[in-house]
Amino acid sequence: MIKVNENYLLLQSGYLFPEISRRVRAFTEKNPLAKVIRLGIGDVTEPLPPAIIDAMHKAVDNMAKRDSFKGYGPEQGYDFLTDAIIANDFASRGVSLATDEIFVSDGSKCDTGNFQEILGLDNVVAVADPVYPVYVDTNVMAGRAGNFDGKGRFTNIVYMPCTPDNNFVPALPKEKADIIYLCYPNNPTGAVATKEQLKMWVDYALKNKALILFDAAYEAFISDDNIPHSIYEIPGAKETAVEFRSFSKTAGFTGLRCAYTVVPKELKVWTKAGKEIELNPIWNRRHCTKFNGASYISQMAAAAVYTNEGKKQVRKIIDIYMSNAATIRKSLTTLGYEVYGGINAPYIWLKTPKKMTSWEFFDNLLSKANVVGTPGSGFGAAGEGFFRLSAFGSPANVAEAMERFKKI
Ligand code: MLT
Repeated sequence: MIKVNENYLLLQSGYLFPEISRRVRAFTEKNPLAKVIRLGIGDVTEPLPPAIIDAMHKAVDNMAKRDSFKGYGPEQGYDFLTDAIIANDFASRGVSLATDEIFVSDGSKCDTGNFQEILGLDNVVAVADPVYPVYVDTNVMAGRAGNFDGKGRFTNIVYMPCTPDNNFVPALPKEKADIIYLCYPNNPTGAVATKEQLKMWVDYALKNKALILFDAAYEAFISDDNIPHSIYEIPGAKETAVEFRSFSKTAGFTGLRCAYTVVPKELKVWTKAGKEIELNPIWNRRHCTKFNGASYISQMAAAAVYTNEGKKQVRKIIDIYMSNAATIRKSLTTLGYEVYGGINAPYIWLKTPKKMTSWEFFDNLLSKANVVGTPGSGFGAAGEGFFRLSAFGSPANVAEAMERFKKI
């Protein structure tokens, strides 16, 4: 008899975004003429810029010739990409990293979801609430989360509420935490963490021998010079943090796929017997066993992001999205909404009016304005009463969506 992994039966309903798609599909089947504007999932809409397209054409041509054809590449990524990552994303900010501390992959969803696999099941996991659902769901799948309490939380996970009162940066947990997921700029609240706030977390992790899994997928959207782009800008962080980066939102790669994870050599974990072990070779072992490398074409495209032309073109696209974010902030503020985020991040987090639940607001917005957003409660119990709008739509759609908001 085949036994199922019963941890999967503990997962709550479907994954958030498929559930939203299901509701939108039901609505459009009933209202085929409705012109629905989607500001739900954070999926980019601008086409890839010329420098990236040219690099992909070149890569395709290389694949067509015997002397430049590529088969399996290094699982950790080609040097031409890891060298560009180190020079542009880290050395430029005073952070030195070695090539073998970078692991190129096909996405940060997979990396943030997979990383927990190499950590013991008896670690206590702490997450912000609201939170990107992948961190919680993958720990549920692994059997680390305990049981569902019926009120939106798992019994063995430490939830750290993020509210307007703490500017959506959680206080240190009272409970012991071994693995701490942090995401800044934040998905879903659009909040950022200052150097002082990240230092508080790094100091906590060092003191408690805890590991920070730092998701920096949205760092390219930071406009304030004082906000750190990498956790490694904080002294001591290399001993206690893994960082996840993605080309998805930064450079429009949601359909192309390329990301990377940084696992510094200084980072240590412990066996049950108290023996100190380097984490980097363990992730390397896992990566090489389960992954055959991101495609050569995606990596050539990613390397083009770091060329002079690529940087300028990517910046223009980011500016389009951040101008959308400013439009959303301004329009909703004028309409009297309580609005957060959208300044250093491509997400706007708004308080639902009239004490509506997040899903009530979702249904109301969909039926009256034909606009799709993401219910805050889908990101955790503390997201109830909030709603997320993504700034990744086209400027025309964003402007139209804001007009329609006036109707509801
Ligand atoms: C989101 O909308 O939260 C993101 O697009 C999801 C993701 O990056 O997987």
